[in-house]
Amino acid sequence: MTELTKEQKQRVEELLSKMTLDEKIGQMNQESVSIVGGFDVSFEELIEMMTDGRISKEEFGKIMNTAETDYHEEDIRKGLVGSLMVQDPKIANELQKIAVKESRLGIPLIFGLDVIHGFRSVYPIAIAEAGTFEPELFEKTAAMAARESRAAGVVWHFAPMIDVARDARWGRVSEGPGEDPYLASVFAGAKVRGLQNDHSSAENYVAACLKHFVGYGACEAGRDYNTVSMANHVLYNNYLVPFREAVKEGAQTVMASFNDLNGVPNTVNPFALKKLLKEQYGLQGFVVSDANAIRECVIHGIAEDEKDAGMQAANAGMDMDMGTEIYAKYLKTAVETGRVSVETVNDAVRRILRVKTWLGLFDHPYVTKEAMERYETLPQEHVALSLEAAEKSIVLLKNENELLPLKRDMKISLVGKLAESREEIIGAWAMSWKEKDCVTILEGMQQEFSQVSYFPCGGPADVISEEDIQKAGEYGDVIVAVLGELVSMSGEASSRSDITMPGRQKELLQKLLATGKPVVLVLMNGRPLALQWESEKISAIVEGWHLGIQMGNAIAHVLSGTCAPEGKLASSFPAVTGQCPVYYNHPNTGRPAGKSKFTSRYLDAPFDALYPFGFGLHYTTFEYSRLKVEECEQELHISVSLKNTGKREGTETVQFYMQDIAATLVRPVRELKGFTKVTLQPGEEKTEEYTLAKENMGFWNNEGVYRLEDGIFHIYAGGNSRDTLMQEIEVTFEHVITDRDYD
Ligand code: NOJ
Repeated sequence: MTELTKEQKQRVEELLSKMTLDEKIGQMNQESVSIVGGFDVSFEELIEMMTDGRISKEEFGKIMNTAETDYHEEDIRKGLVGSLMVQDPKIANELQKIAVKESRLGIPLIFGLDVIHGFRSVYPIAIAEAGTFEPELFEKTAAMAARESRAAGVVWHFAPMIDVARDARWGRVSEGPGEDPYLASVFAGAKVRGLQNDHSSAENYVAACLKHFVGYGACEAGRDYNTVSMANHVLYNNYLVPFREAVKEGAQTVMASFNDLNGVPNTVNPFALKKLLKEQYGLQGFVVSDANAIRECVIHGIAEDEKDAGMQAANAGMDMDMGTEIYAKYLKTAVETGRVSVETVNDAVRRILRVKTWLGLFDHPYVTKEAMERYETLPQEHVALSLEAAEKSIVLLKNENELLPLKRDMKISLVGKLAESREEIIGAWAMSWKEKDCVTILEGMQQEFSQVSYFPCGGPADVISEEDIQKAGEYGDVIVAVLGELVSMSGEASSRSDITMPGRQKELLQKLLATGKPVVLVLMNGRPLALQWESEKISAIVEGWHLGIQMGNAIAHVLSGTCAPEGKLASSFPAVTGQCPVYYNHPNTGRPAGKSKFTSRYLDAPFDALYPFGFGLHYTTFEYSRLKVEECEQELHISVSLKNTGKREGTETVQFYMQDIAATLVRPVRELKGFTKVTLQPGEEKTEEYTLAKENMGFWNNEGVYRLEDGIFHIYAGGNSRDTLMQEIEVTFEHVITDRDYD
């Protein structure tokens, strides 16, 4: 990230000194495009309705075409608006022209949008992409989204979503990098670099917005927006970690989360926004509220009325109000009556102006005609990158008797309504994709295999067609069943209390099995599912998530073996829903689950995950041996030998975990500390090495102090969080340098 120059900082100060209080508060106001005339819902709600599937893209388009929209032109002209959510470059240019040419000080607007996993080139949902364990790929896909969105006027992404999430009932697990704080940090850092760091042209980068700060992923019982209570050490060692890393990486902005954290909604939480984000982590840019969140503080019961909510938010360090106009209505009086200081307002406005300057908006406020036309047709390299990300995200969960890969001349009965859908491959929170760019699974399969017949049979929300099932059984040498969740079943406001396969899909699978033909289950879903029954009965299971525009080709390539599966799970899969939250890095308890009754277990369900974090099979097999650990002053040198013991080339993610055996706080049974990826030919053996900085071996205590404690550690290496080799080592931390100490 490039810092602002001295001159740029000075210009910000000069501008600030010329601004009236009204204009300053205007910068802190993000307006939503409101739809005028007889609609009960806001524009954001409408967008959400489209992204979560309550209305189709066509219906959304129709509403927008017939609706009269209020873009707040008059307020922009008066300098009372700092930001808007827009995704049409022509409209963006018109509004920008008013801000730049017609407002007193000519301060450009910052246009933001939810660009979560791609803009025009939609790539896999985050929980899937995180499973590639490939930071370079995260960086590239983010950079692609930045370029595409900036060509449409969107210069600020409400992404990356980096909420650590351990409870698969929560629909928003789809949007984030999974359950592990280390993987989430790597993902977060790479996304920020990808979005923000290419300054070769003002058209190549955008501002990131880390969200949702903080603890949102721990909503009680997996119910969206629910309350969050947790001990400080859990917060510091898990939920804060990716945010700290991403701010260090230079992320420009952060969105506060809806939830209350230990009784204080983060929208008005000075501990979260001021102390942690701004003072300790050193956030230079600004904090924005989530949509409508300032108003919701009244409903939370922390503010008496909207005025009070606005005052509390501003004093807590909330720099921009998303969509409520509460700052616009009440902040001036709050300042005039001394309830909010001018310094507080100045600090917020300075941060906002700095981000606008950093984005180059003062010099390049408009989208050029050339940029607008640039992505009429998707460039081949964007298609190729979307395909690469999709292929690498696929996780092979089961492959009995090497049913996969399928031979290309096999007769394949393709089953499941999801296989022919374009909307369902895109995943929650994608708005700017085009049907013509999408490859369905049916199309991908027909391209890859010579004999494919399609029998819809049913889907997540459909009735079962007995006739189709019979035909599928008669035609194919093998049945490929594409089943799972609709896009609308994950994402925001989409928690589920039962995460088994929805609808009558288990029954459909039973009927397909009864045909006597081997069945390959290809899953499309936005969260881990509880697959106990499927894992027992179905021979081959492929986790396909929602992979974006190239999903059809990616699935077909993996099924044929054109490309071997290499993805791993970024989130544990429970056997049954009642195990949620299930995650690999839990403390041991004094009575770890065992055969005896008086241990920490269930009477009626397993304790362990069905498929643990980091799990993913290949079309070949790998053998780990010779784990070695050596201690140096500042680091541990870890090496492990990996051999491809199967008959095909394969790419393995070698994972390194650690356990602090005894500490002043109980520590997890395992913690991911690093990983490498390696491709080996059949019979090939290689030593993989990893250097673990000793400063990363500590933990935060309940006072928020980072501790490095001498003692015995177990170091593990393996292909997932469960099946690993172990080496014990005694470590001392004298002279270790860490940047985690705060005053
Ligand atoms: C609500 C969501 O929680 C957040 O992730 C999103 O960025 C905003 N709405 C804006 O759409």
